[in-house]
Amino acid sequence: MNKKKVLVLGTVQGEVPLVEAYKEMGYYVIVVGQNEAYPCCKIADESINADIMDRELMLKIARENEVAAVSSNVVERAIRTVAWVAERLNLEGIGYKTAEIFTNKYYMRKAAERIGIAVPRYAEVASVEEARAFAGEIGVPFIIKPEDNGGSKGVVKIQCVEELEEVFENTLNLSVEDKRVIMEEFIEGEEFIVDAFTHNYICENTDLSWKEKFEMKRNFISKAVVIQDADSCESAVEQKLLEANKRLVEGIGLKFGITHGEYIYNREQDKVYLVEITARGGGVYLASHLTPLATGVNVNRLLAEYSVGNDPLRESGLVLGKGAAAWYAFSLPKGQIVSVEGLEEARSLEGVNAIIDDKFFVGKKTAEMVDDSGKFGPILIYADTRDACNRIFDKVKQILKIKVKTPDGEKGIIW
Ligand SMILES: Nc1ncnc2c1ncn2[C@@H]1O[C@H](COP(=O)(O)OP(=O)(O)O)[C@@H](O)[C@H]1O
Ligand SMILES: [Mg+2]
Repeated sequence: MNKKKVLVLGTVQGEVPLVEAYKEMGYYVIVVGQNEAYPCCKIADESINADIMDRELMLKIARENEVAAVSSNVVERAIRTVAWVAERLNLEGIGYKTAEIFTNKYYMRKAAERIGIAVPRYAEVASVEEARAFAGEIGVPFIIKPEDNGGSKGVVKIQCVEELEEVFENTLNLSVEDKRVIMEEFIEGEEFIVDAFTHNYICENTDLSWKEKFEMKRNFISKAVVIQDADSCESAVEQKLLEANKRLVEGIGLKFGITHGEYIYNREQDKVYLVEITARGGGVYLASHLTPLATGVNVNRLLAEYSVGNDPLRESGLVLGKGAAAWYAFSLPKGQIVSVEGLEEARSLEGVNAIIDDKFFVGKKTAEMVDDSGKFGPILIYADTRDACNRIFDKVKQILKIKVKTPDGEKGIIW
């Protein structure tokens, strides 16, 4: 008998565990993406070079192959297409309307307000003039960001209204489909991530993270994410975050799947603000590696199961193991790498899961970091607690040495 087929949109590293899960379940996996060098193309049964935003084409491929499921676990741009195709073919899906709420920062703010989750004061703007008018109301500093994009692309902290002119067009152009900008209050506070898996409209949090950023004046590049299984997160703030995330996801009405929520906690107001919530796994190895490492739950496999209509959590719900995991990135000064030392020794440390080194090697020219793509690593670590992860990372820092030749002499890693 021929194997049943499934369609996975996106071929990046983060999709690998989803492809593997389908294969373990006995499916023939077709992946679609635009870079055939990406890892999924090597492990899938078939890979198609095409644009996953081309909905009609994805529908055609899904229809012709009579797929049993269409899915994706970490690619933001796949969310709407997956929901749209699934809806048309009567496959398991979250529905196109819901997909829009999880991918458009304006709709998600509207939904959060309805559900009673705090959001920064915000407005949807489509021109500099509109932005200037709203700036008069909320004052500086404020944030502008594309309504629909990710990876901090086009997200800028504005300190004075004149800066708007300089950056607004770029942010607007980075709005992928909706071509609008969100403008909102800058919220001071600590940043957190809450990841969850939802089944039959029941959202169960899997892990909660601390997030650290590189120090930059007006851009936002995350530097480290340290997660702990949700059951071990018992402080009042953590409880507030977990409760908000569950209420939000269930309030929006997600049927199933992985979610990734970002929040800022403001201590003075003792208030949790939503930054964004999306119906996919976190990138940078979060859903693919860290959640499974910390909790023992393979959310990628669960996604595959629910996408084909199975219901493995019906009896007992999610059972989380206790643990922590983290990724840490670093930057390098502008110049050229002349030596890399200690890589294998650092890799062999207990608790080091991986050190991703595809971007640093002798001879590589380095540039100043301006966005997410300019950072190096990450280093993936797991242990019982977040503090233990940080201690292992400290050991890595002692061992891993990269020298970069710069006009001012040799310099090392900027941790
Ligand atoms: N209102 C805000 N106040 C303070 N910081 C913010 C605010 N909005 C965004 N940020 C910062 O910018 C980062 C990226 O913004 P986010 O809305 O998550 O966009 P993206 O979808 O590109 O990740 C956040 O992780 C946070 O560090
Ligand atoms: Mg974000």
